[in-house]
Amino acid sequence: MDIKFIKSENLKTKPDQNALGFGKYFSDYMFVCEWDEGQGWHDARIQPYAPIMLNPASMVLHYAQETFEGMKAYKSPKNEILLFRPEMNARRMANSNERLCMAIFPEADFVQAVEELVKVEADWIPTAEGTSLYIRPFMFATEASVGVHPSKKYTFVIVCSPVGAYYPEGVNPVKIYVEEEYVRAVRGGTGFTKCGGNYAGSVAAQAKAEKLGYTQVLWLDGVERKYVEEVGTMNVMFKINNEIYTAPIEGTVLPGVTRDSIIALLKSWGYTVHETHLAIDDLMAAGDKGELEEAFGTGTAAVISPIGELNYRGHIVTINDFKTGELTQKLYDTLTGIQWGKVEDPFNWVRVV
Ligand code: COI
Repeated sequence: MDIKFIKSENLKTKPDQNALGFGKYFSDYMFVCEWDEGQGWHDARIQPYAPIMLNPASMVLHYAQETFEGMKAYKSPKNEILLFRPEMNARRMANSNERLCMAIFPEADFVQAVEELVKVEADWIPTAEGTSLYIRPFMFATEASVGVHPSKKYTFVIVCSPVGAYYPEGVNPVKIYVEEEYVRAVRGGTGFTKCGGNYAGSVAAQAKAEKLGYTQVLWLDGVERKYVEEVGTMNVMFKINNEIYTAPIEGTVLPGVTRDSIIALLKSWGYTVHETHLAIDDLMAAGDKGELEEAFGTGTAAVISPIGELNYRGHIVTINDFKTGELTQKLYDTLTGIQWGKVEDPFNWVRVV
């Protein structure tokens, strides 16, 4: 793919690397490419970061044909730009788009676009401890039409944001509220995709949890409201009697890149990992018996987020005395060490740009 470069006349002042928060600052450039039925993908370009003009009848604004990805770029101690398994994001976006009946951006072009953009934005990759350049590819329907059908036009954009920790708590335990009223996904729906609609539907539960003093919700399955699925916007894992439990990928749970990487690391260390339906009652009972040793969410944004407390119907279980577990910390250190090019990468996950 040929990518045209349009130079910016106005470069921004970069924010303080020690006060980035998450997703508040955006770099100087963005990648943009458009698709329509006649031409396919055309006009790939890296252009100055700027607002996007939309026809008010653009279908994304009405029927939410929108998908996105989340990935990160890192600077290694040798000053190389590193990406982590970008081909998995390309694949997942293609899967999301197929489910939402949207145009598919070729996977090799997706990786090329990310690479070229991060090369242009190399100076935006922060180097302070725990920071990275979050990359947000997203696609949306732009055909002007108020009838419901697959759009005949799409725009694919990639923006970059220098980030620190996702949660203000950083890599410290968070309190989780087990949600029973709302559900996130059902089989046959869009739970396995990264589409904006999944997140829109989750905000009410998150707001409710926050009001009750909790950082996030633990989602139960959408049919019986019995089995544990995800935590907030992340996959979730539990260490019970020295074995690991996480929900299976059966259409309702996001196939996380971090989830897949953590499972590979755990297996390489000799752990048994059960990708299975874990009942909330069994989880709470394990907590009461002191068998629930550690719990953590996994996702690109927060990497690993330890869980220190679960509240299910007012029944409270505290995990590992509300301290980050030893295995949780080792997973965080190993995975981020690989991502930042500081420890050996036995799986060949890291791509030098
Ligand atoms: C992630 O954990 O990477 C996410 O998907 C969070 C994102 C919605 C900010």
